Amino acid sequence: MPAVAAPGRALADRYAAAFPGSKARFDQARELFPCGVTHDTRMMDPFPVYVDRADGPYKWDVDGRRLTDYFVGHGSHLLGHSPPDVVAAVREQMGKGTHPGACHDGEIAWGRLVRKLVPGAERVRFTGSGTEATLMALRLSRLFTGRPKFLRFQGHFHGWHDYVTVSADPPYESPTVPGVPDAVSGQCVAVPPNDLNRVEDALKADAGIGCVILEPTGGHWGAVPIRGAFLKGLRDLCTRHDKLLIFDEVITGFRVSPGGAQAYYGVTPDLTTLAKILAGGLPGGCVAGRADVLAFLEPRPGKPKMKHPGTYNANPLSAAAGIATLTRVATGEPCAKANAAGRLLRNELNALFAARDWPWVAYGDFSMVRVVPNYRGERPGAAGDNDGLVPHGGDVNALDGPKDMRLVYGLRQAMLLNGVDWWGLAGMTSCEHTDAVVRHTVGAFEAAVEMLSADGLV
Ligand SMILES: Cc1ncc(COP(=O)(O)O)c(C=O)c1O
Repeated sequence: MPAVAAPGRALADRYAAAFPGSKARFDQARELFPCGVTHDTRMMDPFPVYVDRADGPYKWDVDGRRLTDYFVGHGSHLLGHSPPDVVAAVREQMGKGTHPGACHDGEIAWGRLVRKLVPGAERVRFTGSGTEATLMALRLSRLFTGRPKFLRFQGHFHGWHDYVTVSADPPYESPTVPGVPDAVSGQCVAVPPNDLNRVEDALKADAGIGCVILEPTGGHWGAVPIRGAFLKGLRDLCTRHDKLLIFDEVITGFRVSPGGAQAYYGVTPDLTTLAKILAGGLPGGCVAGRADVLAFLEPRPGKPKMKHPGTYNANPLSAAAGIATLTRVATGEPCAKANAAGRLLRNELNALFAARDWPWVAYGDFSMVRVVPNYRGERPGAAGDNDGLVPHGGDVNALDGPKDMRLVYGLRQAMLLNGVDWWGLAGMTSCEHTDAVVRHTVGAFEAAVEMLSADGLV
């Protein structure tokens, strides 16, 4: 009797045969880097794809295959890849110098754009990354409030520094994280998202909490969506209980709307952390917020000063890319186009799932799209994206719990074989994702699910 291949095996073999250049490079990289990769989410079975160049909604792998991209620079490319205005601005700055080790005009223009667009931005301090921005926001909170702890939500991602690692990934109930001292993880109080009663109970129970931090459209960019009513309730709770409210808009800032989720929902936090689109696809981040809180970065008589060096703060190249990007964002057009592409993709995927009677559902808000396999629950109606269905009743473990990685990798392989680089069970759009690009993606999805089915993965 012939041996039966394991589910997913044939797909992995087809992928390996179709992407030989990536395989050859991974064979070298695995000798060099732990897991062969330089970012956790690039881990992939049997090997990740290596990309040579990118333009608009596309990137080309090292074998010359064109891929429609839904990673969009981990969310940083709202304008698509290599936008000519951003490329020209960076080229010009390159010729003038990459690091004067001094103050420069670019940082002023960049900071002014942030203040113009982001409602809560009375003052701005640039950092090297989003991780550095949340690190700064939490330390500023400790200085301003005199309280050491913070409240966060299960499944919300705020970078990789020690303080924010608890409850960022499943299992969410675990109070410890390998390598993080208990004294540090003990400063974090984590509750499930979308439950204002749990937040209020936690704030009342622990006077040591000085602030609340969240991704304002939901953890891991909306795996469990958060919407305006919760944000308004949270704002009210923080004001009543004298806590700082921090919106981590590293993804949503300049994406959801030119002024981020806070402008869209009309809820102003005390501090905002920004990165990604802020720096137009180059490294960079910032904390923006209340002048009296950021004042702790200034030397003042009788007040402690937060130290903040950082070789690449407000780097001129990042500033040049950021100014060019935010200038275009300010018109409103890139966000509107990316949001329309996200909505079309969700709607067309759900139409496909209905037409084929497949147990999948697509959901999400704005330009962020997620799919749930093996789904037999309620289906979305015809309402707009912000009235959209939240599958599994918004349960954090069902929507953002441990994943079947064989299926996740299988879907990625199948999508790549059909010309699309799809991010696990999710993706983000840019303003370059036209209707035609989205419709091609839906066709690729249909072919990919057929491949998964043929190979026993669904
Ligand atoms: C919401 C959020 N906060 C913080 C970060 C960390 O930013 P960075 O990767 O620039 O350190 C990320 C990164 O994806 C993020 O999505």
